Amino acid sequence: MCGIVGVLGNHEAAPILVEALKRLEYRGYDSAGIATIDETNTLDRRRAVGKLVNLSDHLVHNPLAGKSGIGHTRWATHGAPTTDNAHPHRAGPVAVVHNGIIENFRELRTELAAEGFDFNTETDTETVALLAQSHLDKGASPKDAVEATLSRLDGAFALCFLFDGENDLMIAARKGSPLAIGHGDGEMFVGSDAIALAPMTDKVTYLEEGDWAVVTRAGAEIYDAEGRRANRPMKQVRMDANMAEKGGYKHFMAKEIAQQPTVVGEVLSAYVKNETITMDMGQVDFAKIDRLSIVACGTAYYAGLTAKYWFEHYARLPVDIDVASEFRYREAPFSPRTAALFVSQSGETADTLAALRYAQGKADHIVGLINAPESSIARESDVAIEIHAGVEVSVASTKAFTAQLTSFAVMALKAAHQRGHLDDTGLAQKLGELRQLPGLMSAALSIDDATRAVSAKLAEARDVLFLGRGQMFPLALEGALKLKEISYIHAEGYASGELKHGPIALVDQHTPIVVMAPHDGLFDKTVSNMQEVMARGGRVVLVSDARAMKDAGDGVWTSITMPEAPDLLQPILYAIPAQLIAYHTAIAKGTDVDQPRNLAKSVTVE
Ligand code: F6R
Repeated sequence: MCGIVGVLGNHEAAPILVEALKRLEYRGYDSAGIATIDETNTLDRRRAVGKLVNLSDHLVHNPLAGKSGIGHTRWATHGAPTTDNAHPHRAGPVAVVHNGIIENFRELRTELAAEGFDFNTETDTETVALLAQSHLDKGASPKDAVEATLSRLDGAFALCFLFDGENDLMIAARKGSPLAIGHGDGEMFVGSDAIALAPMTDKVTYLEEGDWAVVTRAGAEIYDAEGRRANRPMKQVRMDANMAEKGGYKHFMAKEIAQQPTVVGEVLSAYVKNETITMDMGQVDFAKIDRLSIVACGTAYYAGLTAKYWFEHYARLPVDIDVASEFRYREAPFSPRTAALFVSQSGETADTLAALRYAQGKADHIVGLINAPESSIARESDVAIEIHAGVEVSVASTKAFTAQLTSFAVMALKAAHQRGHLDDTGLAQKLGELRQLPGLMSAALSIDDATRAVSAKLAEARDVLFLGRGQMFPLALEGALKLKEISYIHAEGYASGELKHGPIALVDQHTPIVVMAPHDGLFDKTVSNMQEVMARGGRVVLVSDARAMKDAGDGVWTSITMPEAPDLLQPILYAIPAQLIAYHTAIAKGTDVDQPRNLAKSVTVE
């Protein structure tokens, strides 16, 4: 989604803004721009479509001077990615950058048109700039103009304003989309997240819902939605400037795949001590609930779907699972003694957040499973469980997925123990299995070369099917999602047993079928489905362990051999081949691995 940065500094702002925008590139964007105030106190801007390098080139030929400025990476919502639609948007003396959607922009456009304003863009943001201008034209101060403007805006947004003639003033506002104020030494900053600000400062104040802030080099005055002065804490963030570096890897995705043994180790050391689980679930006692309702989007949804198998199998706790965009509008009733759990890496996904707000007051408990502890979902949950994945930059989620799964595995075991389905000995044994996970994940990473060879073949395909059974079914869905996201090859995941109910019609010698099947209790069933596929000329890529290869490897097109592992660990472990297949296929196709077309890292619009 869009990225925002603002600087009131002591050095030339343009290079700082572009550098900060680079750090926000991971969010996904299709145009970018900056505006500055120069030494004559004049506001000017530069914008360019496409990658940031285009904006940098533009700035080489048409530099922008000044030590104050705002910048933006735009992920188009209203209007195509053109220079005119790129931010900052300017109306007379005001420039504004915006993340989110102004839902009542049509109504505002009609009003502004009646006042005689013309429109130069197709965006909702332009109405914000024009509204502010209309107040300034009537003599309002910048602060009053922004306050009056904000009171007219519906929707979810983050905004940052800059004013002609004011080289020591930015006004920032948050409603639905996060925004951080950075404190420097005689300098102040604004950013969509602390990553953008990392090289400049680690002292950050997060605006709360409805807050807006008048920022000068002397500091920030923060106001709440009612216009009262608000005191928000300044926090020292743990933000290593290298977090947003590739650290020797070609892509963030490769780095993040390789980090997974460490990440799952972090999760385990946060939540498991010796033979006990230390995960603090607040008021949630699994023995006192009858149902768990899990809601999420995309990869986080597949983590939740895997967890359904675990909660139901180990803890005998019924689980409903929904994609958030459907859940939020289907008016789901909650039965008594239900906990609702929302999974989100970013903690800002608009659909998941809206679903959480729907559940408030209806479910007995609201639990967030999040990576960003300062996020909206974390704040609005009764209890927020961190997945400890660290900053995930690649748009395609990898380490957050395995961290979600590992956290869920611990939670499901806690539930099994609390509900009396696992005694102390059983729990200790399962925790012992979990402790093998970092080592097994490191071993699984050694399939890299084998995966590259498989991917060279998959890169030729137009369609790919992924099959899995039981707890491996969600992984088939995740494998297909990863492949389509970054290689743009059409891929679908199916439950192995469902293939013959329709999708088998797709099978021919041109359609590779990736079968995720460890040698578990359901293996023989999956082998039968594999045989059905091979009998129809289908090309099977078998991802399994050595035992399975021996029993069922004959006739497969190609294979990837995984380490053997206890059942509970299989979906977490097999995430690695799913991710590496997508990664190497994307490399073979030459696509943009870290920033695939049309995608954004944190989806803060509906
Ligand atoms: C896929 C991917 C997305 C996200 C989804 C939810 O690789 O990254 O499907 O999983 O947009 O995002 P969060 O977890 O931030 O709510």
